[in-house]
Amino acid sequence: MTRASVVGADMTTFGVHESTLSELFAEAALGAYDDAGVGPDEIDALYFGNAMGGQTENDTHLAPAVASQVGLAGVPCQRYEDACATSANAFKNAVEAVEAGIHDTVLVGGVERCTPETGLGTGEMTRIFASASDRHYEQPTGLTFPGVFALLTKRHMHEHGTTEEQLAHVAVKNHANGTRNPNAHFGKETTVEEVLDSPIVADPFHLMDCCPFSDGASAVIVTSDDRADSFDDPVDVSGVGHATDVVPLSAKPVPHATQAARDAAAQAYEQAGTSADEMAFAEVHDCFTGAEVMASEAIGFFEDGEGGPAAAEGRSSMDGDRPINPSGGLKAKGHPIGATGTAQIVELAEQLRGDTGERQIDGAEKAVAHNLGGDAATTVVSVMEVRG
Ligand code: COA
Repeated sequence: MTRASVVGADMTTFGVHESTLSELFAEAALGAYDDAGVGPDEIDALYFGNAMGGQTENDTHLAPAVASQVGLAGVPCQRYEDACATSANAFKNAVEAVEAGIHDTVLVGGVERCTPETGLGTGEMTRIFASASDRHYEQPTGLTFPGVFALLTKRHMHEHGTTEEQLAHVAVKNHANGTRNPNAHFGKETTVEEVLDSPIVADPFHLMDCCPFSDGASAVIVTSDDRADSFDDPVDVSGVGHATDVVPLSAKPVPHATQAARDAAAQAYEQAGTSADEMAFAEVHDCFTGAEVMASEAIGFFEDGEGGPAAAEGRSSMDGDRPINPSGGLKAKGHPIGATGTAQIVELAEQLRGDTGERQIDGAEKAVAHNLGGDAATTVVSVMEVRG
């Protein structure tokens, strides 16, 4: 089933930028217009994601400002905010609006600035990010996101015997993939030894198990099934699942199961009439190496407990049987949080068109993206496929 199609896609480099949020988003949006061969006069609405602009630029009413920057003054626009799942949620709402016939062709994307170029350093940015954790029980203890995912991963290690070496293999793989992505924040390889020798951030995570703070933007053009054939190379969106979970880690029955991801994946596969077995690759939310292991199990690429060994055996590498994060993932491509969800959609679209050069997954026909927010409390899973 086709719900809508992606007919244009682009992103900025992820890394350090001096531009403002609006300027950075415009760079990705204009690239998406070019890629689709449309002008702003053909866009009916803007679905825009930004999570932290209130804190980083004192700008809480960004959607209309951004719309006028990309030639869309006057069109309906709204800002989505769902922590790290921000622009995936904008994408889901855009797909639903197009499918429902409310709009025909829309611009969807997100932007964030998280590096010291904002004037805010690692400590202050860590505090701002932590505002997406539980307000009542977690924030007062000083828990921040490396700690949130460290606790989830420790539980996974306890239940399944996952090891630090297995986690390090995730970082090694994603850094290797990132060297083939010109938009990646990091273009350098690493080794298991280098990961394990890097400083501890939150046990079991070393610095090299963590994604960086990045600036960047991403954008896609979504159109109706009916109109898609008038574009070159449309890529169909066949399923978008969206689920939530209780926020505090202590309230989750099986925290390391990341239940919202399982529920969102089940919805997306069911809508698409497919299963994990048919996916050529996945882009998953590897904000920390342990998060990729848990995600790889939640979306059905590996059995529970197999995600760690699978990474160490190379099964999730480019030449493995279940490739994960050919883009380099959040770990190497970078994680400007409001831009991450639609950047995954950009990677799916470009891979399914066969446009990713030396990181191409040959013959990819279907793929899945998994984007989570907060304490794994919001997850959006999208399935896309080559137009039949
Ligand atoms: N991966 C690889 N290298 C990294 C890195 C990362 N995540 N973060 C920083 N580096 C590199 C820098 O490029 C720099 O290299 P250089 O010395 O060659 O220039 C060096 O490590 C030190 O960088 P610095 O910016 O001083 O690091 P930091 O100690 O301030 O921050 C982390 C490192 C890991 C603490 C920080 O990146 C972090 O907190 N990441 C997680 C962000 C997060 O929680 N996101 C939300 C997820 S839900």
